[in-house]
Amino acid sequence: MNLLEVNNLHTYFNTDAGVIKAVNNVSFAVKAGRTLGIVGESGSGKSVTAMSVIRLLDYPGEILSGEVLYGGNDLTKISEASMRSIRGNEISVIFQEPMTSLNPVFKIKKQLNESIILHQNVSKKEATEISLGMLEAVKFDNPSEILDYYPHQLSGGMRQRVMIAMALASKPKILIADEPTTALDVIIQADILDLMNDLKNDFDTSIIFISHDLGVVSQMADDVIVMINGKIVEQAPIEKIFENPIHPYTRTLISAFLATDIETDIDNIKTLDNYEKENDKFDFENFKANRTADTDWLEVETDHFVAVNLK
Ligand SMILES: Nc1ncnc2c1ncn2[C@@H]1O[C@H](COP(=O)(O)OP(=O)(O)OP(=O)(O)O)[C@@H](O)[C@H]1O
Ligand SMILES: [Mg+2]
Repeated sequence: MNLLEVNNLHTYFNTDAGVIKAVNNVSFAVKAGRTLGIVGESGSGKSVTAMSVIRLLDYPGEILSGEVLYGGNDLTKISEASMRSIRGNEISVIFQEPMTSLNPVFKIKKQLNESIILHQNVSKKEATEISLGMLEAVKFDNPSEILDYYPHQLSGGMRQRVMIAMALASKPKILIADEPTTALDVIIQADILDLMNDLKNDFDTSIIFISHDLGVVSQMADDVIVMINGKIVEQAPIEKIFENPIHPYTRTLISAFLATDIETDIDNIKTLDNYEKENDKFDFENFKANRTADTDWLEVETDHFVAVNLK
């Protein structure tokens, strides 16, 4: 079942220097109970895609056309008041750097409680109970002490766990995690990813997981979209992306990832030359010429789509 469906989304920034087509005809679905990974290089449009879903776009970003279907509504069309009741409630976000979301001058208790009271109709006392429960859920063994801390008294990994607690307190249907572990060291990053996977099951939340790192995405995602230059070049369940990557850009990402993993043999992956020989009806002309997605959308196997140029 599709929980969220994005169809032909176009989000542009009209700047003095010209129009930036940050999201240029993007379509995808988030399925119930599954994690959708969005992977791609810096500036490819991952964050703007996710922020378009909840209409948290920096000026002068604007959704020009397309649909974001959720719960029977097109989120691009509903009022700002309706959007506010969905944002942080049914669809929550965690960002890369928790210090930008946590206020340094207030204790964790005040910030967690306020966020809970904002989204749920509960008293202060009930909010504190929920806060304690959430801190326990994100594996703090001293939740009441944590409530009494200021953000700077916590490590980066601890702050990120507080952010996850805050985001999940309203039991959202969808959690958008935008590079949630990029600022953390590798060991802490692995802990946080494990935690998110556990909580996804416990809370029955679907996740949109954004990262430039295919290795990290592979640990989290059930389905993946690969973006470049505001467009999707390949889309498939994660195992198909690894077994049979087709687009040259996906293959570059996988090679870079496998180069760090000596146990995997890159020769197992069909070479692109072989692929093009076997499938002489398509190529990647636009991509090769200027790194933009080709415009035909080919289903190369069930649920596995690639942007190609059909000859
Ligand atoms: N406020 C803004 N004003 C103008 N252009 C913007 C703004 N925000 C984003 N963009 C442009 O939109 C495009 C997509 O940016 P986006 O932040 O989605 O990339 P990203 O894939 O998330 O990159 P990163 O991995 O660095 O986070 C980029 O070309 C970026 O410069
Ligand atoms: Mg980003």
